[in-house]
Amino acid sequence: MEYKNLLTTYKDGILVVTINRPKALNALNKQTLSDLRQLFEKDALNLEGLRGVVLTGAGEKAFVAGADITEFNGLDAQGGLDMAQNGHDIFFSIERFHVPVIAAVGGYALGGGCELAMACHIRVASDKALFGQPEVNLGLIPGYGGTQRLIQYIGKGRALELLMTADMIDAQKALDWGLANHVVPHGEEIEKAIEILKKIAKKAPLAISKTIATVNAYFDKEHDGFKQEVLQFAQTVKTEDFKEGAAAFLEKRKAVFQGK
Ligand code: HXC
Repeated sequence: MEYKNLLTTYKDGILVVTINRPKALNALNKQTLSDLRQLFEKDALNLEGLRGVVLTGAGEKAFVAGADITEFNGLDAQGGLDMAQNGHDIFFSIERFHVPVIAAVGGYALGGGCELAMACHIRVASDKALFGQPEVNLGLIPGYGGTQRLIQYIGKGRALELLMTADMIDAQKALDWGLANHVVPHGEEIEKAIEILKKIAKKAPLAISKTIATVNAYFDKEHDGFKQEVLQFAQTVKTEDFKEGAAAFLEKRKAVFQGK
């Protein structure tokens, strides 16, 4: 399995996938998303004996710091729809994957990065992990399922607060609120994820696949919310505030929003 932006290792039925753009804090650019689609929709489906996947980010600082803001330039409403829908499709492929996928989060999991971690079945955080949905800083809303999945994990009030303040929460708070399943010392998150996958690998494989499918079915009624997110994300892409928010990030200054 060869990818531009992913590294993979495969041992004892466990695939470890590392998003490998550490200089950009593993931001999800188009290539990385296409690599993830190739992996979860094709390559990993054909892996003989696969029992679990660990998804992590390269480097010391980040799991994934979000969608790649350098690719936002020139995005129009149609581009926003396409971008959000593409991410939704890939993240649903992860959420519906037939073997467990565990996010090993060793640093920033922001925006699309938090959304990616939430599409995984379980999250193991290191004590340096930070989670957040900072899209409103850019004049945006989340577009990869964050408005829906964050509610599923932490509830409406906490989700609304995080989505509107753009605050980050640390690993301990993520654990207390149900976003992280475990917190381990920094550097031990992949090992802990593998330990969990090895335990699950001893169980009946078909029962595990059906468990994932059936738990997912509980949330099917919320698909209208996912559709709304794609539409509303595309609306935010049309605004002057979005142009200002993205420009301010790239120019390393504070955004000044006008509400238009
Ligand atoms: C592109 C990014 C990036 C991103 C960081 N970088 N996040 N590049 N897209 N999302 C780059 C920086 O520009 C910088 O590049 C390098 O990574 C290191 O980042 P710094 O900012 O210098 O590091 P630090 O000061 O430690 O701050 C870390 C940080 C900050 C707090 C994580 O980088 C940050 O706020 N990033 C943006 C987070 C964010 O807004 N994410 C949501 C994106 S929108 P250089 O070249 O200067 O070294 C989103 C929507 C998804 O995800 C839905 C779409 C449909």
